[in-house]
Amino acid sequence: MSNEHVFAPPAAFAAQAHVNGIDAYRKLYDQAATAPDQFWGDLARKELSWFQPFDTVLDWQPPFAKWFSGGKINASYNCLDRHLNEGRADKVAIAFEGEPGDERQITYRELHRLVVRFASILKARGHQAGDRAIIYMPMIPEAVVAMLACARLGITHSVVFGGFSAEALKARVEDLGAQLVLTADGGWRRGKKIALKATVNEALEDCTTVRDVIVYHRTGGEVNMIEGRDHWWHELEHLASDDCPAVPLDSEHPLFVLYTSGTTGKPKGILHTTAGYLLHTTMTMKWVFDLKQSDVYWCTADIGWVTGHSYIVYGPLSAGATSVLYEGAPDFPQYDRWWSLIAKYKVNTFYTSPTAIRALIKQGDHWPKAHDLSSLRLLGSVGEPINPAAWNWYHHVIGADRCPIVDTWWQTETGGILIAPMPGAVPLKPGSGTLPMPGIIAEVVDVHGKPVGENREGFLVIKRPWPGMLRTLWGDPERYQEAYWSRLPGIYFTGDAARRDQDGYFWVLGRVDDVMNVSGHRLSTMEVESALVHHPAVAEAAVVGKPHEITGQAVVCFVSLKAGHWNHEELGKELRAWVAKEIGSFARPEEIRFTESLPKTRSGKIMRRLLRELVTSNTVSGDVTTLEDLGVLTRLAAQNDDEA
Ligand code: PRX
Repeated sequence: MSNEHVFAPPAAFAAQAHVNGIDAYRKLYDQAATAPDQFWGDLARKELSWFQPFDTVLDWQPPFAKWFSGGKINASYNCLDRHLNEGRADKVAIAFEGEPGDERQITYRELHRLVVRFASILKARGHQAGDRAIIYMPMIPEAVVAMLACARLGITHSVVFGGFSAEALKARVEDLGAQLVLTADGGWRRGKKIALKATVNEALEDCTTVRDVIVYHRTGGEVNMIEGRDHWWHELEHLASDDCPAVPLDSEHPLFVLYTSGTTGKPKGILHTTAGYLLHTTMTMKWVFDLKQSDVYWCTADIGWVTGHSYIVYGPLSAGATSVLYEGAPDFPQYDRWWSLIAKYKVNTFYTSPTAIRALIKQGDHWPKAHDLSSLRLLGSVGEPINPAAWNWYHHVIGADRCPIVDTWWQTETGGILIAPMPGAVPLKPGSGTLPMPGIIAEVVDVHGKPVGENREGFLVIKRPWPGMLRTLWGDPERYQEAYWSRLPGIYFTGDAARRDQDGYFWVLGRVDDVMNVSGHRLSTMEVESALVHHPAVAEAAVVGKPHEITGQAVVCFVSLKAGHWNHEELGKELRAWVAKEIGSFARPEEIRFTESLPKTRSGKIMRRLLRELVTSNTVSGDVTTLEDLGVLTRLAAQNDDEA
């Protein structure tokens, strides 16, 4: 191995790990590479509970995959019922802490009861397999109950992050054609009530498909209930029964749709189905988080993002873990909330994002140092590349130089982790996701699909289907084909650039398309642009990501105004608020820059790459109130275009 900073698995960790030593990893990897059907088939039989066995492991008609055809299975059964028969009934499934400090320890038995009763209510209201539900809830156990109750009946759910606006929520309800919305009056965030139900009301104003809105009472306060459509969760209790068995569903039954940003203004509805997704998330809990029955595991993501789906709900519960769920902000009431929760719940596996780490570093070491973090044994990172300073701090200050860090590369589309170290087997290099999971044939290639060779930059692709992969885009198989499979037929195009070093380690460098990564969340430049051009003053807009110390990237908007409007500070503020209202507060631009014209190619395409370079090298004045003359750039761009 090369002489960069390399952290071998600590001997004590390796000794107790599921996969101990690099040879054990290689053996697994080789087994999966040489006989994938046998590898995945054996695991699916061993690790999941089936109502009816499958007859085919993989049916691959590129780019459409079917895994475990012929099988009947249910995700809710796998996350709940089977644990009751395997001695985990009294084990805590969810250790919940609300932001105001309320606590609930929910055992597998209790979670099962809650899910069964809520599913029976949905059933009594006439909801059934094939229906679609939108879940727009705070980070409380009932959000998990809502997901698993849908899964129990075969209702396909789509969780919408609570930070999304009414506009964004409406677009998702419509695209999904949802009949059911599960929400709450509100949730707690930094001591304030986030009014979720009010947003739902606005989103559903002209909606014709939704016939039931079920509202969990969380924060209290005024809510406007629409007669006939809206019901309080607790008032439907009279419909509940303790008898609501999990419905046997096809392996490929649509489990959920999760919307994520693509390169156009319209979000993509990523479809995940049941058996393959469940197998992938269950296995990666063991391989990457080295999950043991006694572990207390905490993933800080929001259930509205894929990390929450795979590594708060389906992965941990299917693997029978004890999982911490925290409702609120990391800095409420002060900057040590997370560290105090680790100490209080004796968390030993902690999974978070580089953005969160950087934000907490900034507040000083005295916050974590005031707490006993000695329960920790493993740390994880997800969502964006982790920079060396953040890695070192996480390793030293939080992990006391004792805990391996698993840097996990994956995407909403991949369903689960694809590239990450198995912590008892694979030596770490800070900033690298290291090696692929078994069954994942990853490669760095050029535009023709040819491997670029050692330490060369190229496109990260996956050459073989895997169980947790997306199956299609909801209602848009052409876009699915186009977005992921058209450049290199039969090969999955991730949209990320990467290099592979002399030891075969992957270093993911960032997106190659017009997708930004802000705080580990994907945001499309086009989505922000189309929000901006809806504003009456805006003629044209071009949006790019700019490197940001905490959030990785920040949104910078170049805006030209319609005749009769002029740039001023107030308009800058208004446009920032406008984007937050159209998409959600997490999309609020860092900067609005007014310009007379945008640099374009002769065919009229905005040259975003040029603007990206500008904001990165900061060669353009950052004063939001001055009108920037990009005319020169435009002419320059046209010239280059002529030459090209
Ligand atoms: O660019 C990669 C980056 O996040 C993208 C996926 O975003 P999303 O679908 O929102 O899922 C985020 C949580 C899995 C990827 O295309 N990304 C994710 N994890 C890493 C990463 N970049 C570098 N290192 C990672 N560990």
